[in-house]
Amino acid sequence: MTAVKVHDKYFVPFLSEETIQQKISAVAATISLDYQGKKPLFIAILNGSFMFAADLFKHISGDAEICFIKLASYKGTRSTGHVVTAIGLDTDVTGREVVIVEDIIDTGKTLHNFLPQLYNQQPASVKIAVLLHKPEATVYPININYCCFAIPNKFVVGYGLDYDGLGRNLKEIFQLQGEE
Ligand code: XMP
Ligand code: MG
Repeated sequence: MTAVKVHDKYFVPFLSEETIQQKISAVAATISLDYQGKKPLFIAILNGSFMFAADLFKHISGDAEICFIKLASYKGTRSTGHVVTAIGLDTDVTGREVVIVEDIIDTGKTLHNFLPQLYNQQPASVKIAVLLHKPEATVYPININYCCFAIPNKFVVGYGLDYDGLGRNLKEIFQLQGEE
């Protein structure tokens, strides 16, 4: 893998396609075991998680459902701290075993805002599956149940994650070059 240019910035290879795929199938196997005999409802948070959600979900065995919501808090390479619900939840979660699927937890603000709305509808349980977690960026601590990769506090693109709309179609994950 070589560096890629997205808009005005250069990004260097960080997680290979093989590394990502191996970890996702291992996490999916753990989730499948944990929910054996149940019918979990996966709620994937668009846009960033669409690729992770697809790859994770196809490795889940047994009955499972998936739905999507769209929340956004990022502009460019910095969180705006303001979370907007662009597409809301259209599925009844009352009494359901919910697994939230997120691409990345950065400050934790997105889920900190969303979780109370979800708990209001009285799901039986809520667990969180994330592809990436930036522990050093935490402002709102979130209890993550399934984490694929804990990463440094540097901006990343690829595999669904974007820099101002571009970079989502990369199969690997790249890290902003030279960022401290
Ligand atoms: P919070 O701060 O709410 O952020 O936990 C979660 C959302 O912010 C986006 N995000 C990123 N997007 N590269 C991206 O392309 C990054 O390094 C990054 N960090 C956070 C992402 O949409 C996530 O859902
Ligand atoms: Mg996201």
